[in-house]
Amino acid sequence: MRIATFLSFTVAAAATQAAAKNATQDPFEQWDGPKAGDVRGPCPFLNTFANHGFLPRSGKYITEKDLANGLFNAVHFDANISQFLFDFAVSTNPQPNSTWFSLDHLSRHNVLEHDASLSRVDAFLGHADVFNQQAFDETRSHWGDIVNVESGTTAILARMKTCKATDPNYSLSDLGEAFILGETAAFISILGDAKSITVDKKLVEYLFQNERLPTKLGWKRPGTPFTTDILLENLGKVQVEYEKRLNATSPGKRSGEYAGRMIHGSTKLIY
Ligand code: HEM
Repeated sequence: MRIATFLSFTVAAAATQAAAKNATQDPFEQWDGPKAGDVRGPCPFLNTFANHGFLPRSGKYITEKDLANGLFNAVHFDANISQFLFDFAVSTNPQPNSTWFSLDHLSRHNVLEHDASLSRVDAFLGHADVFNQQAFDETRSHWGDIVNVESGTTAILARMKTCKATDPNYSLSDLGEAFILGETAAFISILGDAKSITVDKKLVEYLFQNERLPTKLGWKRPGTPFTTDILLENLGKVQVEYEKRLNATSPGKRSGEYAGRMIHGSTKLIY
């Protein structure tokens, strides 16, 4: 073999090896489910970030810095929204004045975790750490091919109706209600388009069912930062639709200040 040919083979082989190494080091491609002793919680997104190593894979002892780095690297959250969410998260650690939380702390019922989840059964019926296919099938049957403000709200209201009818202990705090609207606003914005508030249902199904980022389906980390203002603005749009539907069936019943509830963290039970 001539030296030039040999060298080009060697360079090509090295480049292939480097590309393979980069691919295996890319956290978007590196996925590993929880091992014995690891914990996961009721939030499909935080579970996903732990499965990719954007958050500690153990799901434990997550500090503000871990969360800020993880949410920035995974889904381009700015520092302000990470701090906003960290303050909520740390409130679920049963140890007062803690500086960290673990994903299973988030399951403490009616702190943040609420009934009428999109993919979990109510606290009376089972554990919020575990994905429930039946609950999720009901949710996604209302989404259509594109999840938007309208179809997202239809799914929320359907889950509320089912849970109220089947759970004798059904309850919802006003913070829980605001979270429900915020969760739908957030998943549409992060997996889809935060401006038009639309997302392909397939991306959402993939994440919820696999607790994995849907890169295989073409999803990419958002190119622009996601901020508290965007979250609250999109939550507000879901809220308008939600109140319109509620007020159509029980006039004057709802005119909540949902974004304010998230900012002030009210936990008064409303049901
Ligand atoms: C520190 C940050 C976060 C905290 C503390 C948090 C907390 C929670 C909690 C407690 C739940 C359970 C609610 C329930 O009872 O159903 C939940 C669910 C959810 N979270 Fe998160 N979350 C965080 C980040 C995110 C992010 C970044 C997203 C991105 C879109 C997200 C999207 C969702 C969705 C869609 C649900 C609804 C799951 C369901 O109803 O089945 N969360 N989250």
